[in-house]
Amino acid sequence: MYKLRCFVIALGLSLASCGEKQVLVADEKNVDTHTYAHISKAKITHLSWDVEVDFDDKVIRGSAAYDFENHQSKEIYFDTSELAIDSVLLANGKPAVFELGALDAVKGRALKVKISPKDTHLVIYYKTAPEASALQWLDPIQTHDKKHPYLLTQGQAILTRSYIPIQDTPSIRITYDATVRVPKDLLALMSAINPKEKTADGVYHFKMPQPLPPYLIALAVGDLQYQAIDDRTGVYAEPTQLKDAAWELADMGKMLIAAENLYGAYPWGQYDVLILPPSFPFGGMENPRLTFATPTILVGDRSLTNLVAHELAHSWSGNLVTNATWNDFWLNEGFTVYFERRIMEALEGRDYADMITVIGYQDLKTDMQKLPEKLTALYIDLEGINPDDAFSDVPYDKGYLFLKMLEDRYGRSQFDTFIKKYFKENAFKTTNTEDFVVYLKENLTGGEDDFVQNWIYDTGWPKDLKIPTSKLFEQVEARFAADRNRFQNDKNRRETLPKWSTNEWLHYIRSIDVSVLTSEDLKWIDQQYHFTASKNSEIQCAWFEKAFRLQYKAVDANAKAFLVQVGRRKFIEPLYLALRQTNQLDFAREIYREARPNYHFLARQNLDVLLGTPGNLQ
Ligand code: BES
Ligand code: ZN
Repeated sequence: MYKLRCFVIALGLSLASCGEKQVLVADEKNVDTHTYAHISKAKITHLSWDVEVDFDDKVIRGSAAYDFENHQSKEIYFDTSELAIDSVLLANGKPAVFELGALDAVKGRALKVKISPKDTHLVIYYKTAPEASALQWLDPIQTHDKKHPYLLTQGQAILTRSYIPIQDTPSIRITYDATVRVPKDLLALMSAINPKEKTADGVYHFKMPQPLPPYLIALAVGDLQYQAIDDRTGVYAEPTQLKDAAWELADMGKMLIAAENLYGAYPWGQYDVLILPPSFPFGGMENPRLTFATPTILVGDRSLTNLVAHELAHSWSGNLVTNATWNDFWLNEGFTVYFERRIMEALEGRDYADMITVIGYQDLKTDMQKLPEKLTALYIDLEGINPDDAFSDVPYDKGYLFLKMLEDRYGRSQFDTFIKKYFKENAFKTTNTEDFVVYLKENLTGGEDDFVQNWIYDTGWPKDLKIPTSKLFEQVEARFAADRNRFQNDKNRRETLPKWSTNEWLHYIRSIDVSVLTSEDLKWIDQQYHFTASKNSEIQCAWFEKAFRLQYKAVDANAKAFLVQVGRRKFIEPLYLALRQTNQLDFAREIYREARPNYHFLARQNLDVLLGTPGNLQ
């Protein structure tokens, strides 16, 4: 029987994705409800991608050839979304019969290809739709240097299927090679062995020898240059941003060594970071060998480089040991946040790590208050729900707190031995929550672990939560308390600016309680600290949100410019929400009208609901 499920997240952000429930993959331990690929019948092992990137039509067209393991099956299934399939050929060059299934709002369409039980190879000729959800086509004006167009892909969680017909489940791993044709003045990069400079003919060949889950296939095409940091790490960016990027990320080599000292040799060879245009919807994406990163981390004081530590940490947690389904997403992100903070502690010391931990905890608290109960557990059954709609800080920071609790309980050295062994034994495999719980029992807790069930499967706050604190933030709070006194009693006083890093300023702004302070108070704070004029996105986002809530109108012009320029969802969604909640929908829509073309599909999807669809915007 078909059941219609429709999930709506709280917040007023209705992120509904309604889908028909169907019985899908059953591959013994891994049941991924977000794929049509019956991998127990036939499972792909290698992709050979041969495509042309057409910036005029905003399409990718070409072929995808696969090697697959065939378990005597007469059909093989792929996931697709918005793809136009031209033809499918078998190894002998004969056309295969294929069929596209009904459209599901979450999963897209199944592509079923008739094969013979002996077939192990086929090739699909296809092209993408201009609105393919994984592809972000940028006009020159949306790039840093404003001269050339840019294309970037985002596969996680289930978007790869919108530009490659694929068995789009993290429970499989494939190797790939690719030939990509791009306009001659652009460089193409992938999550693979990459070129360091442009070719004369715009043709690029890639190889990814280590097997990865399909959500980690990635492509970027733009006017890009490379600068090495050391013999294993480096940065790609647009020409006039390259120097700043290399300066900001100069510690990447040290991060890599710190990571290896903790949990074993880096398994992917090279580690580079690509600095993207500001409309990239995420902070970072851990594409193997080539992290994609937002330019908003380039703040000139290296204070936000934990984002790189985070994506680097995914080289082990996520990329090497991969969540088997999106229900187990916390295994990817919780481990990565824990690992990220250990890397930062090794580089910058305990005080820095404590600050980012408290910031993460504050974000978690906000999410725990507004999320539907079900999404406050680490393990979540996402059947019929788009993983993107369930995204929150829970897998990140509750996941972190769980692992930190284990560290405290069993001691750092025993816990480190456990993690190192876990990565080693599960390298290039997938794992799910159930298996992890067994592994934990056998290798660390020894069985007395009711608390494990409580942390992983129960909703809400765990019973033995230890609230993180930060020494440096206590100083920030003291300053804030003193300032409050000043702006209430001695409005004309000017103070010298403390020498704080981004995180301390962020904490200061977060201390502003909008139910107590007024727009006048913000004016005083602004005169002291000049937040409205800040060029640091973390500070801008935090400050503009407070200002919107207290209707401190002096920020409006800068806030608008910020929202038109930056597409990082973590920054833009809270700002539009603040405007909506304070009855400033007209202003929100005025900004959104201008900003929308610059935003990624995922951001637009949410904001269309929050602010009214494009039709309503006029
Ligand atoms: N893998 C995530 C980004 C992601 C998650 C993309 C789910 C699509 C679906 C990445 O590693 C990440 O967590 N990025 C964070 C930065 C980090 C420092 C917490 C981000 O983008 O803000
Ligand atoms: Zn992550």
